[in-house]
Amino acid sequence: MKNLAAKTSRIEIPITSLTLMQQNTEVINQWSESAPYWEKHREIMREMFAPVTQALIEDAEIARRRAVLDVATGPGEPALTIADLIGSEGKVVGTDPVPEMVEAARREAHRRGLRNASFEVAFANDLPFPANTFEAVVSRFGVMFFASPVDSVRECLRVLKPGGKIAMAVWHFADKNPFHYVVAQLVEQYVKSPPPVPDSPDAFRFASPGKLQAIFSEAGVAATSERLLQFSIRAAISVKSFWTLRSEMSEKLRTKLATFSKQQAAELKRDVIEALRPYSANRGLSFPAEVLIVSGRKAPA
Ligand SMILES: C[S@@+](CC[C@H](N)C(=O)[O-])C[C@H]1O[C@@H](n2cnc3c(N)ncnc32)[C@H](O)[C@@H]1O
Repeated sequence: MKNLAAKTSRIEIPITSLTLMQQNTEVINQWSESAPYWEKHREIMREMFAPVTQALIEDAEIARRRAVLDVATGPGEPALTIADLIGSEGKVVGTDPVPEMVEAARREAHRRGLRNASFEVAFANDLPFPANTFEAVVSRFGVMFFASPVDSVRECLRVLKPGGKIAMAVWHFADKNPFHYVVAQLVEQYVKSPPPVPDSPDAFRFASPGKLQAIFSEAGVAATSERLLQFSIRAAISVKSFWTLRSEMSEKLRTKLATFSKQQAAELKRDVIEALRPYSANRGLSFPAEVLIVSGRKAPA
């Protein structure tokens, strides 16, 4: 016992690891609370972001029989869409550090009877797979939240086979994306956000062209490229349902809305519904949107 105590007292955790551990704990807490809402709205999200999924599939050169990893899969996208594409001889694994997200993804795979899709709890910088396992790695709207993007991309590269492709999707600037700013700007009038800490986890962390591509190069990805995907986020839902979706799915918005009085909440909802009218389309809503797709390859052996 004495020896054990003596050994234990000598364990030192480097400051950088401690910060990473703290950031990782925060991530788990925040995204765990969001998980039920992401599961509730999964179908409409799949529909809205299908063009981004399609771009990742193209840039990662995903086809039948491929072995694919989807990092930060949340409740299962784009992994579940990829499962249909690769067929029964392919396999797709989705990873996310939040157990509630992974359980939601597994439930959907089970509901659809998918045998070629599985889901594991894991941070992107510590993947539970041997080197050279996958032919393609994708991630949709994940890397901006990673505690260490460069370590995570390096880890993705480790599990990729030589010559395999990696592709990630991140938001372009907020002012190009009314899907985000219409609601965010109105909420900001009631509760101001603190100035953002540079390079902290945030939806628009990699909005500047070239920033994520530089991380790819630093991590050792070969033949990197970046393209701007301009598309429409289309959702066959009413303005009111969209307000529910946005206010439930964003942790930032939920936290702010929790401070509102009943009257403020009603006023805000009315203002949001009014501000969304220009985006009403024939069968629901349609927002112009811009996303960057950054991709590259693991150098052939
Ligand atoms: C915006 S959601 C994207 C989910 C899904 N890919 C989609 O497009 O619907 C971001 C996801 O990143 C995950 N995440 C956050 N930090 C992570 C990390 N360090 N490693 C892997 N995933 C992480 C969260 O748990 C969350 O599920």
